[in-house]
This record gives sequence, C-alpha cells and structure tokens, in this order.
Amino acid sequence: LAIPQHVAIIMDGNGRWAQSKGRPRNYGHLKGAKVARKIIEECARIGIKNLTLYTFSTENWLRPFEEVSFLMSLLEKHLRRQRATLIKNNIRFHCIGDHSKLPKNVTQELKNTIEATAGSTGMNLVFAVSYGGRQEIAAAAKKLAEEALRGRINIEDIDESLFDSYLTTTAVPDPDLIIRTSGEFRISNFMLWQAAYSEFYISSLPWPDFTIKELQQALSLYEKRERRFGRVGPSVSPELTT
Ligand code: IPE
Ligand code: IPE
Ligand code: MG
Repeated sequence: LAIPQHVAIIMDGNGRWAQSKGRPRNYGHLKGAKVARKIIEECARIGIKNLTLYTFSTENWLRPFEEVSFLMSLLEKHLRRQRATLIKNNIRFHCIGDHSKLPKNVTQELKNTIEATAGSTGMNLVFAVSYGGRQEIAAAAKKLAEEALRGRINIEDIDESLFDSYLTTTAVPDPDLIIRTSGEFRISNFMLWQAAYSEFYISSLPWPDFTIKELQQALSLYEKRERRFGRVGPSVSPELTT
C-alpha cells in the first residue's frame, strides 16, 4: 500500500492563478505545462508505475476558441519537445479520450509519442485528452451492444470485468490516488468508473504552484489511509477486491 500503483491528477487552477497575477489565463496554462514536466519526472524517479494527467476534458471544448487553440498548440509543442526526455526516463506514453475532434497535428504528435515510447518499460504516463468519463462509459456500452448484436458475446457474459475491458484505460489499473489542485472538491467527469475506490487528495495550491513537496505530502497521507473496499477492519490491497 505504501506507494500507489496509479496516481491520477486533475490539474486545476491555471486560469485563476494567472488572473490573480493580472495575467491572461493562457499564461497559467504555460506555467502549468512546466509544472507537469517536473511532476512527470519526479513520479518516474520515485517509482510510481502509472501516472495519469487530466489534460483536457470533453467539456473544455466549451471554452473560448482562443483558449482552446492555445491549449491545443501547447499540447502539441509539449509532446514534440518532451519525447526525448520521456524515452530517456524509460517512460511509456499512452493517451485516452475521444480524439475525433482534435486538430490533426495534435493527433499526429500523440501518435508519434506513443510509438516513440512503445519500448519503454518504466512508468506508464497517460494523458487524458478530450476525455470524459460518461462518454467513455457510453462508448463502451455501445461497443458491447454491437458485439452482442453480432453474436460475438453473450449478454449473460457482461459483467464488471468484461465491461472494464471495453474502457480505454486497459493499460493501467484503477487509480489508487486522485489528486485535484486548486481546492476544488469535484470529479469533473474524470474516470467515473475507475474512481470507484480511489483515495482523494485535494490540494489548495493552484496547479502552477504545485510542488514536489506537495506531491510528497499527498503520497504520505495516502500511505496512512485505511482502504477497506467495503469490508471491515484493516486495509486490503486493491488486487484482493477483484
Ligand atoms: C486547468 O486549469 C487546465 C484545464 C482545465 C485545461 P483551468 O484552466 O481550469 O483553470 P481555472 O480552474 O479556470 O483557474
Ligand atoms: C477539469 O478542470 C478538467 C481538467 C483539469 C483538464 P475544469 O476546470 O475543466 O473543471 P470544472 O469546470 O471546474 O469542473
Ligand atoms: Mg478549472
């Protein structure tokens, strides 16, 4: 239990951080991307096996065009520039979300990064881009229905583990610890299925101010949590629940 197998971070508060300094929201996104780089490297260094970063939600498409374009080009540049560092740190890159709406250059960089790091055996790094938990669950239900109609699966065989295999997160276990920054106590459509028994850590720091020290604080509080998975008594590990 000491170290979570999977840490997921809802990186929130970039806009407010920038505005509190009298700067445009995009300045906060720029600083946020720098912090993400630092935290990715630290997580790999301390031996976290899986790290997911909530980068852009399905609902974030509703933001002003100018902010969405900035975020897309920032993501594209980040991927292009970080690829070598990911390989150097033995990090394997994955991506989840509905990518049909993404600009071509972004899908291309995502694909290139997945391919370039496919040989890495260290930490799995998952970017959730244009990701929504409800959309993911609905898409899985649709695929299962198609398979059933085609006679490839029996309806009686649909259970939690089969359903789970139709989600996009098959490369990683469910998150043990979900960190959200900026003091916001909500899930915002993130990993609704996978978060069933995740522990939460809400940091009051906005993402651009998030530090390695704050990450350590989250990890050390996680270590002290008692995870019961509905049972009585001392902590059990997630593997025992499936
Ligand atoms: C998180 O910061 C980044 C994304 C959601 C893309 P926000 O942009 O949500 O910043 P706030 O929450 O408005 O301050
Ligand atoms: C959640 O943050 C999405 C990401 C961090 C990518 P939001 O800022 O979009 O969430 P709400 O709107 O405050 O719920
Ligand atoms: Mg926000």
